[in-house]
Amino acid sequence: MDIKVVSGDITEQSVGAIIVNLFEGVTSPGGATGAVDRSLEGAISGLISDGEIKGKRGELTLVHTLGKIAPARVLVAGLGKASDLTVDGIRSVTAESCRRLRRAGVETVATIAHGAGIGGMDAGESAKAIAEGAILGLYRFDRHKAKNSDRRDIVTLAIVESDTGKVAAMEKAAAQGTVIADAVSFCRDMANDPANHMTPTRMAEMALEAATEGGLAIEVFERPKMEELGMGALLGVAQGSDEPPKFIVLRYQGDPEDEGNVLGLLGKGITFDSGGLDIKTAGGMRTMKGDMSGGASVISAMRAIGKLKPRINVVGIVPATENMPGSRAQRPGDVVRALNGKSIEIDNTDAEGRLVLADAAAYAASIGVKRIVDVATLTGAVVTALGNICTGAFGNDQVFTDRVVAAGNRVGERAWELPTYAQYKEQYISDVADIKNTGGRPAGAITGAMIIGEFVGDASWVHLDIAGTAGADKTRGYNPKGATGVPVRTLVALAQELARS
Ligand code: BES
Ligand code: ZN
Ligand code: MN
Repeated sequence: MDIKVVSGDITEQSVGAIIVNLFEGVTSPGGATGAVDRSLEGAISGLISDGEIKGKRGELTLVHTLGKIAPARVLVAGLGKASDLTVDGIRSVTAESCRRLRRAGVETVATIAHGAGIGGMDAGESAKAIAEGAILGLYRFDRHKAKNSDRRDIVTLAIVESDTGKVAAMEKAAAQGTVIADAVSFCRDMANDPANHMTPTRMAEMALEAATEGGLAIEVFERPKMEELGMGALLGVAQGSDEPPKFIVLRYQGDPEDEGNVLGLLGKGITFDSGGLDIKTAGGMRTMKGDMSGGASVISAMRAIGKLKPRINVVGIVPATENMPGSRAQRPGDVVRALNGKSIEIDNTDAEGRLVLADAAAYAASIGVKRIVDVATLTGAVVTALGNICTGAFGNDQVFTDRVVAAGNRVGERAWELPTYAQYKEQYISDVADIKNTGGRPAGAITGAMIIGEFVGDASWVHLDIAGTAGADKTRGYNPKGATGVPVRTLVALAQELARS
């Protein structure tokens, strides 16, 4: 889909459909909606007075123009109460509108910049949200389906602005939104792909693709290098699988003069989590192709960061392996040693994410990274605590944690902080090693996080547990059912913001 900003009059666009809007409670529409209504001799205001159009959030009404104006159809999208409109609301309305038009077979669409008129929103912010909402909402994962010739796509989306003075800023913002949403699609493609396709080797290939597109440096460590570095925790998880593990390192140099200005992004890359010898139930295993979502989000965010070029250095690290119960699999009770020398007793082989991230975090610390964000589908416990509405956030530095959570909330990827009190540590003390890899049932999301925190050295660190938010079991707004791509947009926003300050 080609997204562009056009200066002109929305009623004069020769397209399959235009999207205009209505706030709840408005009886005589103004702005672009009013102009369209006049050209259609009161068709829209007539539907309002009949009570068919109320302007409620989520309401979509498709009106045919029967040759009265250039666009063949007008979609009136309800925005809800004007005082409740948010940037995230614009993403959702755009997503739902575009899906509605795609279903109707419309291939060319023009829209106004929702909220930029009486809504009082910045026109650039609106254009960015529209670009993101359209791409994210129209996303489909169909690469393994037979090609269907009557499956149609929206080919062009024009964001139409009558004030020529705003167009340049809107173009820049829409282009940014396109880069970011394309990165989310890249992440979704990885996370939706089945585990027999999205192996650690394939993840490394996708990272190479991201590196090429984003102008990033890339290194992929194979087993011998992991052994040489002493990544015993990662290797312990990998030894139950025939798929070779990969330790993926992506580097973006946006501030070469200040080597210390670096952000580390770590992502759990378990391409399938069977549980290992502590094997999962059939139901529990069913969604575990998505256990590499954190790693996919890091690779995808790096791709966008490489294209957007903020003034900061970013290193993306993804330990990728399967967690399988092969004949060489690690056993409950085994002791492994991570790269920083800490020994870990394997209390449960299904608590593998913290093991691979232990080595990733220790590696990041060893190369001098002082700000680390790790992303992982780490625990079922975080789903019990927070459901699929927000990501769990945990950290060792309140200022940094607040920044990460705020970045997420600003882009519509909500996160909620849970505590990391030192008193929880006693839950993962081991009789035979420095620590064990689980803290038992109470506060499972917290002890899981804190075990990763044992390996970050003196870095400021935030852990995002996306077990509940990485996938959606039904389509909602701009997140179609399946992988959501959370928290790609948070990570990109964070890098941009740290670059500015
Ligand atoms: N990948 C799972 C966590 C998970 C569960 C993600 C549900 C998405 C949905 C993780 O590796 C795991 O198995 N965690 C265990 C930890 C326990 C053994 C301490 C869990 O949550 O049960
Ligand atoms: Zn897992
Ligand atoms: Mn597991």
